Amino acid sequence: MTPIDALLSRVSMPKVTEPGLTELELMSLLKAGLRACDHGRLRPYRFILLEGEARGRLGDAMSEYLHGDLVDVSEAAIEAAKNKALRAPTLLSVIFSPKDNDKIPESEQLVSAGCAAQMIVTAAHLMGLGAMWRTGNAAYSGEVSTVLGLEDHEQVVAMIYLGRPAVAMPSPPEQDPNEFLTRL
Ligand SMILES: Cc1cc2nc3c(=O)[nH]c(=O)nc-3n(C[C@H](O)[C@H](O)[C@H](O)COP(=O)(O)O)c2cc1C
Repeated sequence: MTPIDALLSRVSMPKVTEPGLTELELMSLLKAGLRACDHGRLRPYRFILLEGEARGRLGDAMSEYLHGDLVDVSEAAIEAAKNKALRAPTLLSVIFSPKDNDKIPESEQLVSAGCAAQMIVTAAHLMGLGAMWRTGNAAYSGEVSTVLGLEDHEQVVAMIYLGRPAVAMPSPPEQDPNEFLTRL
């Protein structure tokens, strides 16, 4: 497969299984994230790894958010929220951590953080790993921020669920690029 064909075959893999990432795989993904386009090379992001029991603490925080902030939430939904973080052996969180800068607005820095997350899921796919970028309201909650140890100016950009693909990789949907193109 040519590099461009490999890139175009990228899909999210919601079902992943053990084993989690090796140290080598993790470092490759972080290096890929750090190669994202980034105005001024500010690196306005950082990464947090959650494995083993740390995923349980994240799940508890997501369920506490549901319990505290939403009315009429069922016990089943709370239990499901607890288990959500256990859907992958490795969770890699991409955190937006904006830098003070006169020339580069925060909006551009947020884009850079998103690009880093996209580079990571893309690299994971190219390495034969399963990866899925998830967020949801709970990811932006105070409960989750506390578990992750975020500072006030920081926010979650991505919770990337990583592992070995548990099912065959699907083919991405066909898209006609011309539908998205304006020629001037
Ligand atoms: C900022 C962001 C947040 C996302 N959050 C979720 C999420 O919480 N749950 C989900 O199922 N997909 C989420 N997605 C989308 C998936 O990661 C995925 O891109 C989508 O299901 C389309 O599949 P594909 O990547 O194979 O085209 C998110 C994507 C982005 C960019």
